[in-house]
Parts: sequence; structure tokens; C-alpha cells
Amino acid sequence: MRYLTVALAKGRLAELAMDIFTSIGMDCSEMKEKSRKLIFTDEKNKMKFILVKASDVPTYVEYGAADIGIVGKDTLLEENRNLYEMVDLEFGACNMCVCGRPELKGRLSEITDLKVASKYPNIARQYFQDEKGQTIEIIKLNGSVELGPLVGLSDVIVDIVETGATLRENGLDVLEIICPLSARLVVNKVSMKMERERIMEIVNAFMDKTGERSK
Ligand code: PRP
Repeated sequence: MRYLTVALAKGRLAELAMDIFTSIGMDCSEMKEKSRKLIFTDEKNKMKFILVKASDVPTYVEYGAADIGIVGKDTLLEENRNLYEMVDLEFGACNMCVCGRPELKGRLSEITDLKVASKYPNIARQYFQDEKGQTIEIIKLNGSVELGPLVGLSDVIVDIVETGATLRENGLDVLEIICPLSARLVVNKVSMKMERERIMEIVNAFMDKTGERSK
């Protein structure tokens, strides 16, 4: 039997995903120890787990370096990779939003060449240009995006809002909600053909766990 490889997005999603893998009988104990290791093996179940940057999870899965991935819907929308999205895990729930100074609420379409700062240029472009037909200038940032409107780099941002605390503490507000987000289980298309039985066992176990949690 060959190893099945799971790519986990480093951070909170990986922690929650590990809890589910543990509850369905996988051994994630090695991964729970603090270390700089990137590959973890569960010999008994012939599983390997790799910890990667969230935005790289769809890449590992599309190329088949990982058979399965656990990653946020935000990353899937931004990366738009060729893979199967199998389960909405319902954790990591938040919204992709357009945010800015509260006085801009309801007025975005009036601004010509709206400057939008974001870690998600593709999502921003798709929302403003394709859905709303509004021409925008996109400024790609890699973090602390809320600074954009505060220092005059951009008019608004497109970013994830979870609790809203970052916005509140910086005098910004949600102006428009683009879409809801949560963690997803994704599968490589070839792996799905070659290892269908083992992968579907994991998919079904994750579906059951998700169902149990939302009861
Ligand atoms: C994310 C996101 C927001 C914040 C939203 O940033 O980009 O800044 O969390 O969460 P909240 O609504 O609960 O405040 P992250 O913590 O990933 O850091 P970053 O600024 O480096 O992107």
C-alpha cells in the first residue's frame, strides 16, 4: 500500500484538521510536538502529513505531491487550481469583504479608478471587474492589509473578516460582503481515480465529523 499524503495549511486550520484526523484513528501525535519538521508519518495507516503555507496547499494538491489538502476557501478562490473540492468542513468560518472608512459605505461605485489593496488580487479583480463591471487599481499586499486605507495607499481593502476586531481597532468597517468562507477538504484528480476507496473513506469520515459538530 502506498502512502497517502495530506497537505495542511500551517496554523489554526492545521490544528483543527489534526483533531479530526486523530478522531478518525490517524496518528498525528508527532505533528503536535513543537518542532521545525515539515513531514510527519503515520506508519500504521500509511499516511504522510506535510505542513505548508496556506496559499501553497492547492499547488501541492494539483500537482499530486499531496493527494488531499485542507485549506480555506479564500485560498481556493484566489489560486483557482484544478482539483476536487470535496467537503465544506465548516470551521474557520469568516467572510471575504470589501472594507474601508465607514463614510465610503454605499459609495464605492461612484469612485473612478478605485484603489484596492489586497492579499487576494484575483478575488478583488473578479468581484469588482467581472461581477460589478467597475475598473479598479489593485495593489498587492502580503499582510496587515488594513493599513492600506489608513496611510492613503488605497481607498479600500479586500480581506478576510472573522471577528471584525482588526477593523474596529483601526476605525474601518465592512462596506460590502463578497462571500462566506470556511475550510475545505480538496483532493487531487488522479489520486481520486487511483486511490478512490481510501480517499473516500477519509472524505466520508470528515463529512460525518462535520455533521456531528454542526448538530
Ligand atoms: C487576517 C485578515 C485580517 C484579520 C481578520 O489577518 O487578513 O487582517 O485576520 O480577523 P478579525 O476579523 O478576527 O480581526 P492575519 O491574522 O492572517 O494576518 P495578516 O495581517 O498578516 O494577513
